[in-house]
Amino acid sequence: MKVGIIGGGGIVGSSAGFALQLGGIVHEIVIVDANAELADGQALDMLHGTAAIADQSIRSGGYDSLADADCICITAGLRRKPDESRLALINRNVELFRSILASIKSHGLRPDATVLVVSNPVDILTYLAEKDLGLPKGRVIGLGTLLDTLRFRSLLAMNLGAPATQVQAMILGEHGDSMVPVWSSASVAGLPLEKYPGFSPKLGEAVFQRAKTSGAEMIKKKTGAGFAVGVSIAEVIHAMALDSKRVLPVSTVQSGCYGLRDVAISVPTVVGRAGAEATLEIDLWPKELQGLRRSGGILQETLGQVLSGAKG
Ligand code: 2OP
Repeated sequence: MKVGIIGGGGIVGSSAGFALQLGGIVHEIVIVDANAELADGQALDMLHGTAAIADQSIRSGGYDSLADADCICITAGLRRKPDESRLALINRNVELFRSILASIKSHGLRPDATVLVVSNPVDILTYLAEKDLGLPKGRVIGLGTLLDTLRFRSLLAMNLGAPATQVQAMILGEHGDSMVPVWSSASVAGLPLEKYPGFSPKLGEAVFQRAKTSGAEMIKKKTGAGFAVGVSIAEVIHAMALDSKRVLPVSTVQSGCYGLRDVAISVPTVVGRAGAEATLEIDLWPKELQGLRRSGGILQETLGQVLSGAKG
């Protein structure tokens, strides 16, 4: 599988490239960035290690290098200015993102390509990519709450002294303030999380709040997340490369799942070679379903503001 990473010079894109290199599953990685020198530096730095990892082609390139890519990952984006409203940032990122989409289209892309949107606000931009690129259904995916879910699972494991890979606790909804923890199916090694030694609703809520604010915590502590975003991106791309049908909380434009329509939002999604191949409307507690639908409503309101050109 050939993967192109737009914004690959930055902390998120280069972390994704390195995660894909360590995974050794994709055979070609192209780093694309407005800062061509930085893109080339990141690609070379990874290439220098290929002799110890896998026989992959890792290089920098332009949009013309993406025309035969199996997956195009978009991580480029602007960060909020100190006094900038969230909507104002959204409007600036929408403008940048649409120019990226136009460049992808003008240079061409495979009819069976998938596009993985990471740039924020990821749910809004995933919706725009779906509408602007005109790819077959399921081929535009937003990273959505997969990153939040990995953080949630990892932080729960740290607080409980449990093995992180055996902690299952999904977050659905917006990759943002209205994201929803799914306690109804949370488990450790297949056993109910609520019965695990040391767990309490108070601890659970505190860990969820920490997971929800981890994006801001990463910006405060190190200018922004990188490693966990990179492994989240690799998990989606590897599920497509291996056609593994993994069920992941990623963002796609919904057409009825949990009553959600015409909005990109994260629900349990089967990810395989064709991208988002199905959504699974697994039973949720009433308050979880209510939270998910509230999240969908918040995203639809923001989308309406963006599409109407409202200024923040
Ligand atoms: C985060 O939550 C980058 O949105 C990403 O850190």
